[in-house]
Amino acid sequence: QTSVITPPQVLAAKGRTPLVCLTAYTTPTAKLVDRHCEMVLVGDSVGMVLHGLPDTLGVSLDMMSMHGKAVRRGLEHALMVVDMPFGSYEESPQQAFRNAARLITETGCEAVKLEGGEAMAETIRFLTRRGIPVMAHVGLTPQAVNAFGGYGVQGRGADSERIRGDAIAVTEAGAFSVVLEKIPDPLARRITADIAIPTIGIGASAACDGQILVTDDLLGQFGDFLPKFVRRYADLGAQAEAAIAAYAKDVRARQFPGPEHVFGDTPAGKPKREI
Ligand code: KIV
Ligand code: NA
Repeated sequence: QTSVITPPQVLAAKGRTPLVCLTAYTTPTAKLVDRHCEMVLVGDSVGMVLHGLPDTLGVSLDMMSMHGKAVRRGLEHALMVVDMPFGSYEESPQQAFRNAARLITETGCEAVKLEGGEAMAETIRFLTRRGIPVMAHVGLTPQAVNAFGGYGVQGRGADSERIRGDAIAVTEAGAFSVVLEKIPDPLARRITADIAIPTIGIGASAACDGQILVTDDLLGQFGDFLPKFVRRYADLGAQAEAAIAAYAKDVRARQFPGPEHVFGDTPAGKPKREI
């Protein structure tokens, strides 16, 4: 992939090429994923993954802005989307615009994501009509964890019409794509077939127009728990643990630093070694 991705291009990918999306919170991760993804999300999952918060509710605009700036420095191709944190957009379309504009001007992201379907349609319309591309997010919306009473699958049985209605509402409001999180595969397929914007699945369906995962989850770097919808492509957490244990052992045995890691009296000189 060589060109810079835009929201209209994401929209045009509907029903054509699968959209590959991942999260990033830092410059090095942004550089890694940029070469392989159409969209990179600075997710409010950063609160749980990097800051040790119990859920995403304590994430602030300052945190999203800081991580967004770091990610911006690592991207050349992918479309950058920043999550609007809990409390920064729900009050009114005006509040949402003010805070979305702040994220865009401070981080240089091209789009924002916010959680909610029918209830957020008016806000999504307000933002999109004023030039802010919005990615919507329906199904399991983690900022509503208290209302849901946990992180269970949404949209089973009679509840499926609610989620489908949410997806239609955000489409009609002008969202350029929508995340479908943790809903039954048949429902995700039906929504993907029924709406005109790309669906980005996470715990949804292989039939979605794109997929997203938390990068740290697929790398095995976020140990606390592994959702069923994650495939672990690496176990970097275990590798890191082994590396740190080896370092600690070497220090305690005075095996680190070695002669190659220390400095002599003169710039060119090597420390004298006993033969
Ligand atoms: O915060 C996040 O990382 C997300 C994605 C997993 C969709 O919202
Ligand atoms: Na999120």
